[in-house]
Amino acid sequence: MRPRDEYAEPYRIKVVEPLRQRTREEREELITQAGYNLFSLRAEDVYIDLLTDSGTSAMSDNQWAGIMLGDESYAGSKSFYHLEESVREIMGFRHVVPTHQGRAAEHILMTMLVKPSDRVLGNMHFDTTEGHILLKRATPVNLVIEEGYEPSILHPFKGNIDLFRLEEELDTYGPEKIPFVLITVTCNNNGGQPVSMANIRAVREIASRYGVPVFFDAARFAENAFFIKEREPGYADKPVAEIVREMFSYGDGCTMSSKKDGLVNIGGLLAFNSEGYYRQAVQWGIVYEGFATYGGQAGRDLEALSRGLREVVDEYYLENRIGQVDYLARRLLDLGIPIIEPPGGHGVYLDARRFLPHIPQEHFPAQTLAAELYIEGGIRGVELGTNAFAHRDEKTGEIAYPRLELVRLAIPRRVYTDRHMDQVARALAGIARRKDSLHGLRMVYEAPVLRHFTSRFERL
Ligand code: F0G
Repeated sequence: MRPRDEYAEPYRIKVVEPLRQRTREEREELITQAGYNLFSLRAEDVYIDLLTDSGTSAMSDNQWAGIMLGDESYAGSKSFYHLEESVREIMGFRHVVPTHQGRAAEHILMTMLVKPSDRVLGNMHFDTTEGHILLKRATPVNLVIEEGYEPSILHPFKGNIDLFRLEEELDTYGPEKIPFVLITVTCNNNGGQPVSMANIRAVREIASRYGVPVFFDAARFAENAFFIKEREPGYADKPVAEIVREMFSYGDGCTMSSKKDGLVNIGGLLAFNSEGYYRQAVQWGIVYEGFATYGGQAGRDLEALSRGLREVVDEYYLENRIGQVDYLARRLLDLGIPIIEPPGGHGVYLDARRFLPHIPQEHFPAQTLAAELYIEGGIRGVELGTNAFAHRDEKTGEIAYPRLELVRLAIPRRVYTDRHMDQVARALAGIARRKDSLHGLRMVYEAPVLRHFTSRFERL
């Protein structure tokens, strides 16, 4: 990756969407009304929206042109065949089943292969994946390496699977209880951390010995491939497109949320090599999503995705994309603001525990930081800490707090400039100056499930 000041964005801007920043007084009022929960804000009251990188990408002129050319035929749409060609060429899988988004693809995969009391192994299953495994009364098992849980350990591939534990699981439970291994690239839940090719190859080799298939959660596959090129010996001179095909050559198929590395605003897919898996997936796809050649998407969406999959492996695009995340991370480190290191592919994760060490977890340090970032700069991140992950023991009433207390600043693709990133850094510097005056939050409302979307707070 070249230093950030040696190049500029590999595109120019043809359409703009105006942004307005509310005044500080307005922001104070709006966040109070929202109960200090960022999900309850209206998007138009947000200046820089880093809530997610999912479905928030800017499409290219080529993708928008594809929108006009979308074939809306119920069966056999030309756009479906364009998508199939892209999946074959870019990912190397023969068969594709479109779905309305990533979690729908997970739903189908789990319905095909997971039985009650099974164990689904992976590095770290994303929340929706975990949800679908639990809905099948099976157990999601996260086997990410120990370094993956340590915010400040500099390891190049913190999304790697612990091969020793993988083998132990396979040995103990065998293929009767383990339907497949799912490798999430990049690993979202610990900071968008990549998985190395060596690790993927080894997982394949071990799983094959036990006759267990390997699938990918491919939401951010191109970002993972770029990290392999940057960090793994032997890959510096390989084109990313080739690295992507090698990665997928170790899998039997994938689920994908195309809202990330598909560079589109909605959609997902399943892809497979074997016709047998494909047939099974289509059978469920037709019931839950729609006919085999549209699966919950409009023809125009399939067309935009078929083009996005080709654009996302462009190395100038990826250098600029990962370079922007890295740029923000470096600015924050220069200011002494603690983050997960090294930064991952799709965002910077603030470590609220170290940033606000005087606020105990019961007073929601990460939620406090997220709310203050809105007040300070009109910036919206997302809390991944006590609000999202703490749970209360039904019998004892005792609360189990999560290990990490983070605020994720997810960066949409091709949307913001480095000057927006500078504003994020400036806002955090402002909070750092007055952080001793912050005392945390008290929760005043919580829903019985997935409380973080609707919880309400008051300032302490
Ligand atoms: N897998 C991963 C790794 C994800 O990050 C997501 C979504 C999904 C699956 C589900 O895909 O939203 O299309 O149904 N992540 C979003 C995020 C929501 O903000 O990280 P979906």
